[in-house]
Amino acid sequence: MQDIKKLLLENKAWAQSKAEINENYFSNMALEQNPKYLWIGCADSRVPESEITSSSPGEIFVHRNIANLVVHTDLNFLSVLSYAVNTLKVPHIIVCGHYNCGGVKAALSHQNFGLVNNWVRNIKDTYFKNKLEIETLGTEKDQVNKLVELNVVAQVRNLAHTSIVQEAWAKNQPLHVHGWVYDINTGKLNEHMTLHDGSGIDSAYKYEF
Ligand code: CO
Repeated sequence: MQDIKKLLLENKAWAQSKAEINENYFSNMALEQNPKYLWIGCADSRVPESEITSSSPGEIFVHRNIANLVVHTDLNFLSVLSYAVNTLKVPHIIVCGHYNCGGVKAALSHQNFGLVNNWVRNIKDTYFKNKLEIETLGTEKDQVNKLVELNVVAQVRNLAHTSIVQEAWAKNQPLHVHGWVYDINTGKLNEHMTLHDGSGIDSAYKYEF
């Protein structure tokens, strides 16, 4: 019970401190949101996007799930993406993975996680496609971290394959899709890839607008 009370007490203190600095802080915040970023991150508690980027409320529109996946049949995710791109018109989408990710570890293991297997299957497919590259690495840690990076690249490509992102690019709406990896050991973010337009998309995935 104490654990849950702590959250409510901390919230009270936080709200008071914000209002003391600026009495209009919450009334201004309540008017609208105008974030410049859509963050697609892992649900892992050690990677809080606002904290690690020193961002404030209103700055980042967020979707988090196990292992930061972009799944083309995930109505929840697609709704977030559609709203971020078409209504909020965010100019940046960031897919952020992190080293030592439990979801990626699960994909490399043979353990049965029940229902979660079906989600992790998306990462197993990336493992299978890159099996040789991953298995030349000696340690389990290195293999996990390589698959973390490959998974981020795969999710950036999955974003580029959506009609939502392709339509924005077709309309010349500024939209940059970034793949980053957070290093849990150092607290640093590393850039892995950025797509600025649809020029790199294989024709199999291209829609006409
Ligand atoms: Co994770």
